[in-house]
Amino acid sequence: MKFFIDTANLDQIREAQNLGVLDGVTTNPSLMAKEGISGEENVMKHYKTICDIVDDNVSAEVISTDYEGMIAEGEKLAKIDPKIVVKVPMIKEGVRAIKYFSSKGIRTNCTLVFSAGQALLAAKAGATYVSPFVGRLDDISTDGLALIEDIRLIYDNYGYETQILAASVRHPMHIIECAKIGADVMTGPLSAITALLKHPLTDSGLAQFLADHAKAAGTQK
Ligand code: G3P
Repeated sequence: MKFFIDTANLDQIREAQNLGVLDGVTTNPSLMAKEGISGEENVMKHYKTICDIVDDNVSAEVISTDYEGMIAEGEKLAKIDPKIVVKVPMIKEGVRAIKYFSSKGIRTNCTLVFSAGQALLAAKAGATYVSPFVGRLDDISTDGLALIEDIRLIYDNYGYETQILAASVRHPMHIIECAKIGADVMTGPLSAITALLKHPLTDSGLAQFLADHAKAAGTQK
């Protein structure tokens, strides 16, 4: 399972990268705005900085909603660095754009996916990744994890190579459940990733080991 971090915050990206388990980064216009990044030149520079920190898979989202605009923007984004994955919204023009990018060998992440039908379309268009938003479905009392299960079944039925990128992951149980279902990737905040580390028996067990070691060292002649 690949781990992506869902942020445009450089400190958090560096921290996740230093942990040694990071496979990529997803951003979106809201996350860029949260970091105060605006204007085409600054946005491009920020993506390049992120690419220099991580090994691969930096999702950069297009802002255009028309086909020509998405193509022009996506091609520009893809030229920033080979690690860029062009993120395209699940709208009619977006499906056409994904098909185009896929024919040109440009990797894509189809975002804002909330149904199995949308995921099927994304796969048929040749998306590299499809991003169903687990947390946002849960927010409206709809089972986000059930959608991941449905997409897994559909993709496996036909051998689609599009990777399921469980997005809008909010907490460690989302990650664990997605891993059980067989999502290829998850993206979430650093807090959800580091929460996987924690167990009270690990902490108390380590404290005991260290205390016993210190006692034995103290009695050694
Ligand atoms: O980047 C897309 C997605 O992961 C957004 O997550 O937490 O804003 O629903 P969230």
